[in-house]
Amino acid sequence: MTQIDQYAVFGSPIKHSKSPTIHRIFAEQTGQELVYTAQEVTADRFESAVTEFFRLGGQGLNCTVPLKELAWRFADRKTERADSAKAVNTLALQTDGSILGDNTDGIGLVTDLIVNHEVTLNGKKLLILGAGGASRGILSPLFEQQPACIVIANRTASKAVNLADEFADRGDIKGCGFDELAGLSFDVILNATSASLSNDLPPLPEGLLAPNGVCYDLAYGNELTAFVRWGISHGAASSLDGLGMLVEQAAEAFFIWRGIRPDTAPVIELLNSER
Ligand code: ATR
Repeated sequence: MTQIDQYAVFGSPIKHSKSPTIHRIFAEQTGQELVYTAQEVTADRFESAVTEFFRLGGQGLNCTVPLKELAWRFADRKTERADSAKAVNTLALQTDGSILGDNTDGIGLVTDLIVNHEVTLNGKKLLILGAGGASRGILSPLFEQQPACIVIANRTASKAVNLADEFADRGDIKGCGFDELAGLSFDVILNATSASLSNDLPPLPEGLLAPNGVCYDLAYGNELTAFVRWGISHGAASSLDGLGMLVEQAAEAFFIWRGIRPDTAPVIELLNSER
């Protein structure tokens, strides 16, 4: 008897993950037979849990908070975008038995912006709030869109400066503290801080968002995030949260595993209707 292909998302906390629903719909849509589960895995159990998963015939894994850096260390081989992110959210068993590590977060964000919301990044001035793992993960795919410049602003300015230095060969990029944003304006502002989740916002000066500018919060929730509300109240042409990015990063992982691109629009619509 052949076993149904097994996939899973590992993370902690994982109870509220939407990934099993997303991948179930992708599988139904594309006629793929597979099982996708969510498993509570803490950092200290990561290596044994992943090894066991693949030993028992697992084909692919998503890794989320707090496991992305560990997954990056675990993978036998990594894509360029995973290496520049220093984080892996997708592990895929290869035919030779090795494990490939990829990171689909950044391309998920870019696809949601460009394809789903028709936001142009080419030639635009981008501001990223935050200089942690979430920011690092999106820089390489953002640079591929050839923006005019990227500024990273962070509460701890030195972290933004260091992160910008790492990507200096990719294009015009600068790191700074929030206090250095006065007088500047940007076409697209991306919130990659974890502040939004605690309904907290960094101090942002007036005029920061250019007319017809776009705001995007990498986080999402059942309610509008603090940053999405900031965008609305500052006249953003669109002020979006990361639900579309979540679905698009999943679609990219599905493509890596199964070689088929699912249709994301009905899944985004469904998840939006449920909140
Ligand atoms: P992640 O992997 O989600 O990026 P992280 O690496 O812990 O998580 O980074 C969290 C980011 O959110 C950091 O840029 C952090 O700023 P510091 O580097 O100064 O700590 C930022 N952050 C968290 N809480 C914040 C707050 N209340 N106001 C502003 N920035 C905040």
